[in-house]
Amino acid sequence: MSLSDRIAAAQRSARPQQGAPAEPVPPVTPPNGTTTLAPPPPTAAPAAPPTSATTLATLTASKAKTGRDPFAVVKKIVHAKLVEALGPKLYDAHMTQSELEQQVHVALQTALADADQPMSSVDRARVSQEIADDILGYGPLEPLLRDSELSEVMVNAYNSIYIERSGKLVKTDAQFADEAHLRRTIDKIVSKIGRRVDETSPMVDARLPDGSRVNAIIPPLALDGSKLTIRKFSEDPYTIEDLISFDSLSRQAADLLEGCVRGRLNILVSGGTGAGKTTTLNVLSSFIPDDERIVTIEDAAELRLHQDHVLRLESRPPNIEGKGAVTIRDLVKNSLRMRPDRIVVGEIRDAAALDMLQAMNTGHDGSISTLHANTPRDALARLETMVLMAGMDLPVRAIREQVASAVDLIIQQTRLKDGTRRITAITEIVGMEGDIITTQDVFLFDYSAGTDEHGKFKGHLKSMGLRPRFLEHLADHGVKVNPAIFATGGSLQ
Ligand SMILES: Nc1ncnc2c1ncn2[C@@H]1O[C@H](COP(=O)(O)OP(=O)(O)O)[C@@H](O)[C@H]1O
Ligand SMILES: [Mg+2]
Repeated sequence: MSLSDRIAAAQRSARPQQGAPAEPVPPVTPPNGTTTLAPPPPTAAPAAPPTSATTLATLTASKAKTGRDPFAVVKKIVHAKLVEALGPKLYDAHMTQSELEQQVHVALQTALADADQPMSSVDRARVSQEIADDILGYGPLEPLLRDSELSEVMVNAYNSIYIERSGKLVKTDAQFADEAHLRRTIDKIVSKIGRRVDETSPMVDARLPDGSRVNAIIPPLALDGSKLTIRKFSEDPYTIEDLISFDSLSRQAADLLEGCVRGRLNILVSGGTGAGKTTTLNVLSSFIPDDERIVTIEDAAELRLHQDHVLRLESRPPNIEGKGAVTIRDLVKNSLRMRPDRIVVGEIRDAAALDMLQAMNTGHDGSISTLHANTPRDALARLETMVLMAGMDLPVRAIREQVASAVDLIIQQTRLKDGTRRITAITEIVGMEGDIITTQDVFLFDYSAGTDEHGKFKGHLKSMGLRPRFLEHLADHGVKVNPAIFATGGSLQ
């Protein structure tokens, strides 16, 4: 925790004692009915972690009756006592996070004992965990952030928090005490990376120390209270083996895509938000041979490449005066002077498309990126629109020629209704016919195979029976693909 966070935490909690206007009660998290939430970490209170179903049920019942946390008052008292006891230690820059955690937990036990409130050991463990989470971390979000099975945490309002588990959205019992508690937590998150959120800049992108991506948007833009969306960063990103085991693609499809990367095709991964584009981009990038010099360009560094020769660049938003922005576009231009063998761009959103196409057309073949589109054809239309954003007044035909000669392959990724994320099309860009870019679907997901008894799609990528033209390009780079996989009706499995 940074110095400023600790000072802020100490000041906030000390305020009521100095007779300042009463702050909303600190952490009030309803008892947690979800069994999958992580128990307190080993450094937590010596008391036993909540295991007794009876006590949890009792707690839930008392919460249901009162509509409030039965321990709100004692938590507020203990919180204040804790800050009083630890004082400057909370912002001692020499102390490591784990030393601080240790001290907070010890002081918490003393403060809880002093509070002299009859409590079962289960309640005590819960209350102390919640106070620790609030002082050391992000309050009611902490248990959710610790749960490695969750991929997304979405705060719709202070009392409405959703998670994504195995591709499905589920509402949790966790909640903030009130809007002010939620806003304090948002401030804590964004101030850590030097950003701020207020009426003049009501939307902000930030990152948690573990790399998770955060978006916050507050009123007046957000109606019904502040909203927070956290895309959790997985410590060890998915590999091709993971994607195969999730049925996102088959081994044969993986082999084909590996060949396409090694054979230096220019590839775009297209898909909706959260379809798994960045994950697929990371996996595709892992196929780039070790001896190539790779420049990665992103808005928020998410890619994790294991090759030695990787140069990572990250764009920068403007500062408070609106100055100093460095865009993806600037970085793509700059990267061309860095003698890259490959350029990997996290996502193309705007006029950077023009520079990316130029890079792909000028000897940086084998470049890979993602873009937001629902079908491969839609991806081409999006690219065209984004190039127009560059304001160069290029005729549409010239743009399309540029696109057709730059992009070799579009990989469409889709989040299906069953919660799985799959590669649903592998489409080759063939060339131009008149003013139109011609494409050829090499493989398409077979929706007609229907779903099994659990509602899971049974289909695979099915060959359209066409031999892609890129095979020659691959052969030039020494990559051989078994032509049998392109036979009519064949499927990649
Ligand atoms: N093939 C996959 N199968 C299951 N989950 C996936 C897959 N790809 C990504 N995910 C998960 O889905 C979420 C969104 O993935 P991400 O690659 O960031 O999507 P996008 O870049 O399209 O927004 C992440 O939590 C990620 O761990
Ligand atoms: Mg992404």
